[in-house]
Amino acid sequence: MPLSTAHVATERPERYVKQLLSHMGRKAAAEHTGSGRGTLTFRSGTCSLVSLQHELVLIAAAEDLESLYGVQDVITRHLLRFATQEELSVDWTDPESGDALEIVPPAIDDYLRAHCTPAGELLAELAETTREATGRAAGMQVAADEGALLEMLVRLSGARRAIEIGVFTGYSSLCIARALPADGYLLACDVSTEWTDIARPYWRRAGVEDRIDLRIGPALDTLRALPGEPAFDFAFVDADKGNYPGYYEEIVPRLAPGGLLVLDNVFLGGRVLDPAFQGADHQAMRRVNDALAHDERLDVVMLPVRDGVTLARKR
Ligand SMILES: C[S@@+](CC[C@H](N)C(=O)[O-])C[C@H]1O[C@@H](n2cnc3c(N)ncnc32)[C@H](O)[C@@H]1O
Repeated sequence: MPLSTAHVATERPERYVKQLLSHMGRKAAAEHTGSGRGTLTFRSGTCSLVSLQHELVLIAAAEDLESLYGVQDVITRHLLRFATQEELSVDWTDPESGDALEIVPPAIDDYLRAHCTPAGELLAELAETTREATGRAAGMQVAADEGALLEMLVRLSGARRAIEIGVFTGYSSLCIARALPADGYLLACDVSTEWTDIARPYWRRAGVEDRIDLRIGPALDTLRALPGEPAFDFAFVDADKGNYPGYYEEIVPRLAPGGLLVLDNVFLGGRVLDPAFQGADHQAMRRVNDALAHDERLDVVMLPVRDGVTLARKR
């Protein structure tokens, strides 16, 4: 499904969202999705409206190009009509498909990979072993720069007790565990012994095996069996996407004030932006992304790292 965005510089983004939602009611179904946010659903397309500081972000998507241009046109005309006190410029990007969005241009990606501290021999060996042992599934492993980011976040936050949902062959667990203090604790959850068996020798060689409590079983059950107290300082979620809403719901109360929740794959390859994708995973991820942005318990930053990484710090 083609989609296109426009970033409109303005001092009144919230007001335009309200006006668009209330004035377009006859042409489209208008839904208020949160403070300064909304969605207009036309017969053949949608437009999400997001007010940011000094900026109104418009994300239009439609079944075909002609319908997309129709949505762009009607939104642009209405906006320009509402803007009696300032001059707006509404420039739409060229249409793209949601599953083909380039999050970071390749040249920048190469450059940034070359300017992060290298992963080191043990992690590089684990990545190689994973490729040999799991084939295409190896693509699930976090990339070296994301592993380095996790390690840095754990060190910077001074976390002592961590949870990980989605271990696979143990790359991200190793990054998290080695950044914890010697008496630190990582509760690592996965359903697969086949994959996590690959992890153990690497954890041992890294000297962190005794910090990692691996629990095999559906992670939601593991989380729900934990005491409800805020006993964790760090959580990384990188497992089955349909359960992200449940993971978020179970983890936030168990995070201590100042604790950090990190969610991976929040863009789902760009598909979260594209209404053509309505699978259970896409809907679950949209729900979590929207809920986090409005969660009064958290400060949230979404980063364009790999497939999108959200950092949510408990207030
Ligand atoms: C994307 S991989 C994790 C990659 C890992 N973070 C790394 O860096 O290598 C997702 C993992 O989630 C696990 N998983 C899937 N569904 C699960 C569930 N319901 N509970 C726990 N783990 C699950 C899979 O077995 C898989 O190992």
